[in-house]
Amino acid sequence: MDRFLVRGGKKLKGTVHISGSKNAALPLLVATLLTDEPCTLHRVPDLRDVRTTLKILEYLGKKVTYRQNTVTVEANGPLKNNLPYELVKQMRASFWVAGPLLARFKQAEIPLPGGCAIGVRPVDIHLKGFEKLGAVCEVQGGNVFIRAKELNAAKIVLRFPSVGATQNLLMCASLVPGETVLENVAKEPEIDDVISFLNKMGARIHTDEKGRLIIQGVEVLHGAEHTVVADRIESGSYMLVAAATRSDVMVADCVPEHNAILLEDLKEAGFTLEVGTDFVHVHAYEGDIKPLRIRTAPYPGFATDLQAPWMTLMTLCNGTAEVDEDIFENRFMHAPELVRMGAQIVTEKSVARVTGVKALSAAHVQASDLRGGFALVMAGLCASGETEVERVYHVDRGYEKLEEKLTALGADIRRYNPDKDEF
Ligand code: EPZ
Repeated sequence: MDRFLVRGGKKLKGTVHISGSKNAALPLLVATLLTDEPCTLHRVPDLRDVRTTLKILEYLGKKVTYRQNTVTVEANGPLKNNLPYELVKQMRASFWVAGPLLARFKQAEIPLPGGCAIGVRPVDIHLKGFEKLGAVCEVQGGNVFIRAKELNAAKIVLRFPSVGATQNLLMCASLVPGETVLENVAKEPEIDDVISFLNKMGARIHTDEKGRLIIQGVEVLHGAEHTVVADRIESGSYMLVAAATRSDVMVADCVPEHNAILLEDLKEAGFTLEVGTDFVHVHAYEGDIKPLRIRTAPYPGFATDLQAPWMTLMTLCNGTAEVDEDIFENRFMHAPELVRMGAQIVTEKSVARVTGVKALSAAHVQASDLRGGFALVMAGLCASGETEVERVYHVDRGYEKLEEKLTALGADIRRYNPDKDEF
C-alpha cells in the first residue's frame, strides 16, 4: 500500500487551486440515475470515491465517460435496482442510490453500509423518510429491501439534519407526486448544489422561509449539465496547512463564505487573511497561535471534516485548546498519531484537550480515515525531519492531486510503495 514521505519544517509559498467538491460530486453523480437522458458534470475531482461511484453507475447500467474532470452519464439499457456488498463496503455514500432507485422503480435492494473508522453511521433517518413516503423497509442479511406499491408526498421531519438522509430523500421526493416537505434538513452547500442540478433536470425544489425543503414531485426528469461547486473541505484544509506551517499561501478557486466559521476562528487564533470573492490569501504569521475552543456542528457550524486538520494546528498553539467533536462518536483517531509526533493531546469522550508544544517531531504514523490522514500529512509538513504516513489510500479518497498541489507550494512530499518501489 502507498505511503507518503514528508520532509517538513519548510515554509510553503504560492497558490493552490481548489477542485470540485467530493461531497457534492458523489450525490450529483447519483442524481443522474433519476433520468434516462444524458447528463454532463464538470469539475468532478479525480478521487477514489468518485471512481467508486462511476463503477456503481456502470454496475447499475449507465454508460459513463470521464475525461479531464468532466463526466458524462448516459442510458445504456434498463437499470438494475440492487447493489453488491463489494461496492457498498468501499464507500458508504453508495447507499444514496436508494432514493433514485426507489423513486423510479418502487424498489431497491442495497446492502446496509457498514460503519467506518469514525463511527457506526446508521441509516435510520434515511429509512424512516422512505417509510413516510409510503415504502416498506426490511433489513435482512445485511441488506435493506425497500419496496413501495406507490409513493405519496409527505411531511418528513428529520430527527437530525443528516447530510446523506437529506440528499437521499430529496432525490427520491423529486419524482413523487404531490408536495413533500422536508424539515430539519442539512444545510451544507453540497445540498444546494444537488438542488440546483435537480432543478436544471426539471425538478421543482425550493427552500421556504422556515428553511424547509419544499419538493413538488414531477413525472419525469431530463438530462442536464452542471459544474460541481468548489470543495470547502479541501479549501479549509489548505488554509490550515498554510497557517500551521507559518506560510504565505493563496487558496484560489474556492467559495470563502462556505468556510466562514473557519475564517473567523483563524483570525481569532491570530492569523491575517485576505478574503476575496473566490480566494482566501493566508499571510505568513510568526506570532503565538491563540488556543480556541471549537465544537463541530451541522453547517454553518464548524465542519466535522475540518476537525482533524484544525487539531493539528492547535498542537502548536500557545496554551490549551479544546476540540469538541459533536457529530461523530469516534473521530479522534488522528490524536494518538499526533501524540507520536510530540503533540500533547488528552481525549475524553467527545472532547480533546490540546496543549500546544513548540514544535512537532517527525515520526512514522498511520492514517485511519480520510481527514485524519490529511491531518497527519499536515503535521509532517510542520515537523522538521522525515514523517512517513502509512495507508494513504484513505487520503486519496478526498484530496485530488495532493502531492502535486503541495509540491507546487514548495513542500517535500513523495508517494512510495514499499512493496514495489526501489528505495
Ligand atoms: C456526510 O456524511 C459527508 N459525506 C461526511 O464527509 C461528513 O462528515 C458528514 O456528512 C457530516 O457533515 C458525504 O457527503 C459523502 P450525516 P453522512 O448523515 O451523510 C448520524 C468526508 O470526510 N446519522 O450527516 O454520512 C451519523 O451517524 C466525509 O468527506 C444517524 O444517526 O453524514 C453521524 O453521527 C466523512 N442516522 C451524524 O448523523 C442516519 O440515518 C452525521 O451524519 C444518518 C446519520
